[in-house]
Amino acid sequence: MTRTNSFPEGFRWGTATAAHQIEGGNWNNDWWAWEHAEGSPVAEPSGDACDSWERWPDDVALCAGMGVDNYRFSIEWSRIEPEPGAWSSSAIAHYRRQCEALLERGIDPVVTFHHFTTPRWAAELGGWAEPTTADRFASFCERAAGELADVLRVACTINEPNIVSMIGYGFGLFPPGQTDMAMVERVNEVFVDAHRQAVQAIRAAAPGVPVGLTLSMTDYQAVDGGEATRDAARALMEDPFLEAAVGDDFIGVQTYSRSRCGPHGQLGPERGVEVLALGYEYWPESLGATIRRAWDVTKGVVPIRVTENGIGTADDTQRIRYLHTALEGVLDCLADGIEVTGYTCWSLLDNFEWAFGYGPHFGLVEVDRTAPFARRPKPSAEWYGRVITANALVP
Ligand code: GCO
Repeated sequence: MTRTNSFPEGFRWGTATAAHQIEGGNWNNDWWAWEHAEGSPVAEPSGDACDSWERWPDDVALCAGMGVDNYRFSIEWSRIEPEPGAWSSSAIAHYRRQCEALLERGIDPVVTFHHFTTPRWAAELGGWAEPTTADRFASFCERAAGELADVLRVACTINEPNIVSMIGYGFGLFPPGQTDMAMVERVNEVFVDAHRQAVQAIRAAAPGVPVGLTLSMTDYQAVDGGEATRDAARALMEDPFLEAAVGDDFIGVQTYSRSRCGPHGQLGPERGVEVLALGYEYWPESLGATIRRAWDVTKGVVPIRVTENGIGTADDTQRIRYLHTALEGVLDCLADGIEVTGYTCWSLLDNFEWAFGYGPHFGLVEVDRTAPFARRPKPSAEWYGRVITANALVP
């Protein structure tokens, strides 16, 4: 099939955020502790973030203004279950109001149950190296999904578990700050178990709500005989989770760049290719490549939803260019018969980019982080809105 500029009818368009990156004041999780730990590698603490705990109605209005049909955000486990088995009905009510406000504007709440942050108490009990954390997470999912069942439209269990295991346990830049590559595989196993249990718990508590995992994927490219390096990277970072996704309602593909693999390891950026704020290359073609790989590994039985894609840049024209090229890749995949059901742009807002602090700007909307936290849509937000209205790539 040849590619057109149009997306299929019913293609879903969204944008995304995560609780700790925008809410502010999430002091009861492992990230906050990590940001304030002595010698922390985090550039700056999250602080008030975008004040979205208070200003979420502004965020809902921004989504509506862009015309998205879904908004992906996360609910903060440490607010809902501040101590083991102690449930905050106020926190649940907060997220319920947010879901209801979205639904009133015709926007589906796509809710992530774990987006990088873990309650301090769960971290102290051993975090993701401890197998029982999977059970504790599943019980949180059961409770939260039950309370929100009627206002949830899509559920994402765990966001990028492969990043938490690699960056937190292998590289030591995310909590718990361990630098033990041997841990990565073990933590992956706990995450796979947590995901499987969470799927069951959410399906039981919120019947009919599609459930899936959202995975960080990289376009690993073998260079000069780097096939074994490429395959090893995939085997550690992607395959266990793609395999665990078989039987789910969707797999969330999240892609930002590529990585070149040589015979002796990762090669780093290629000369002449622009390197972005996060240290990887400007490579929008990576989205199409990873969608294809996810489709191959899941044997074409798990529908694909792009749950994150975007670029951290101060140059908003470059953002539009990046998104345009990435979406061409999605159109090519669709033309080849791959089932891609939707696209989500990361992110709605300029926000707390984890260890990088507030430096990188991923938002379609700029946020003035001094009170009153004014939000200003960028030209890319306007462009994205036109793509959504046309359901097609526009110049
Ligand atoms: C992710 C991260 C996001 C990042 C984004 C840009 O899911 O990948 O959780 O929170 O902000 O990826 O690096």
